[in-house]
Amino acid sequence: MKSDKQPADDVFSYDELPYGGNTHASTHPRRIGAIARLFGIEPVDLQHARVLEIGCGLGDDLLPLAAAYPEADFIGIDLGRRHVDVANGLARERGLANVNFRQMDITAMDPNLGRFDYVIAHGVFSWVPPPVAQALLRICESLLTDRGLVYISYNTYPDWEQMGKVRDAMRAHVAGLPSPLAQVEATRRFVAKEVLAKRPDTSKNQSYDTAIRRVAARVEHASDSYVFHEFLCEHNHPIWFADFVANASDHGLRYVGDTDRTAMWGDGDGATSNRIEREQALDRALGRGFRSSVLCKNPLEPTSEALPESLLNTCLSTQMLDRGEGQFGTSDAVQVTVTGTGIVKALRDITKAQGRPIPFASEWLQDNESQSVCDDLLNLIKVGLIDVGEPGGPGATQIEERPVAFEIARALAAEGRDLVVGLGHRATTLDSIGQFILPRLDGTRDRNALARQVLAAMRRGELPALAPGTKKADAQKQVLTDIESWLERTLASELLVSSFKHN
Ligand SMILES: C[S@@+](CC[C@H](N)C(=O)[O-])C[C@H]1O[C@@H](n2cnc3c(N)ncnc32)[C@H](O)[C@@H]1O
Repeated sequence: MKSDKQPADDVFSYDELPYGGNTHASTHPRRIGAIARLFGIEPVDLQHARVLEIGCGLGDDLLPLAAAYPEADFIGIDLGRRHVDVANGLARERGLANVNFRQMDITAMDPNLGRFDYVIAHGVFSWVPPPVAQALLRICESLLTDRGLVYISYNTYPDWEQMGKVRDAMRAHVAGLPSPLAQVEATRRFVAKEVLAKRPDTSKNQSYDTAIRRVAARVEHASDSYVFHEFLCEHNHPIWFADFVANASDHGLRYVGDTDRTAMWGDGDGATSNRIEREQALDRALGRGFRSSVLCKNPLEPTSEALPESLLNTCLSTQMLDRGEGQFGTSDAVQVTVTGTGIVKALRDITKAQGRPIPFASEWLQDNESQSVCDDLLNLIKVGLIDVGEPGGPGATQIEERPVAFEIARALAAEGRDLVVGLGHRATTLDSIGQFILPRLDGTRDRNALARQVLAAMRRGELPALAPGTKKADAQKQVLTDIESWLERTLASELLVSSFKHN
């Protein structure tokens, strides 16, 4: 039986199986802002912004933001009591006075919350009853400042045509079981035995078979909470992209763009010049199953095409490597070749930062080439090889004499976690030396002091020892070299803050 009301099942299920543990780069306001900037909208500076997250879960997205932007104001709301209690507990533990989590139902949101420059709802729209999704759009519009931006993610057709059939089958299979956890466990057993252990059956509907194998792979590796809330809970309502845009428009919200840049283009040669139709056609062609869209309020008017010159005011990053002679490529072999002094210099500088966003540099603009440098960079953004973000923020631009690490990452490493999140919401896995050094990067130690502590920890057996027989002077040199390359990776992962901005 379908219900439009919540607390019942889903909310108890979130209290039973809290949802969290992941910080999503796509929800970072600096990315939301940059997408708006690409389409001609000047976003509000995050340093002093008000940010609301609706359906904030355990606060994984807001807590790092609150630590990184102490002068901005953050509120998270969620119906799950446990979510809100855990998130507030973490905020207190980390001494974050600029973030606050409240238990609240989307359908009964307090209008006294004030207005917000960024409203984020990740994993909510498709996963609540349809009337609640409509209330979400309504409240987003009413709580938004005039230049404010909304981020909403949702499951989409066509991919969910097949995925939905798989979901229905999974739900039917475990319907009689009493708890979310029992249902997840039964689902895992089922896919292991009936799907993963068997070879594809070529006599069957191939698209269904592919879908169930993809679901099975996710069920095998994902958390209990994800498996339940994606595949087994009552509410998961995908939508066609064009219908989402029309629905948002009914509530006075306009589509600006998507934080997954590759979702936004379509071949300009296609039959239609209408951007929404073009993106919808692309979703169909590529079988897209998920979107994370940025919306603004009427009467703001995003441009119909991305503006190459808007890149002059953004930061750019890439996972590509410089392969020399104008060739740049990713580790999985996608390769681009560029010509022109400006674009080669730009890509050299961006790749050198190894993933850390760097501001657009005027020196990339060579005479007669300015337009083409921006056009080339925009094309690389469109195919997902370059990422775009708003400039500013507390990140270090170089390794300082006494480096300072982002305090949330430092605290997590001190607790013994090996997965930490940098300023751009990207997760980084720490090796043993990283786990040891990160908590010590508080601006009081230079490289020599760090090396002394690493060597002492090696002697105590807390860190793996160097090769037997290594001389004392060589040991010091080797540890200093290791620390330097570790610091470089740490800078690239945006785990270092500028002590100048920090103090
Ligand atoms: C799939 S989880 C996403 C959590 C988090 N945004 C993330 O992506 O990790 C959906 C969240 O929406 C919350 N939620 C569901 N219905 C709600 C409602 N009516 N009002 C407020 N929050 C709700 C749930 O408690 C849960 O935290």
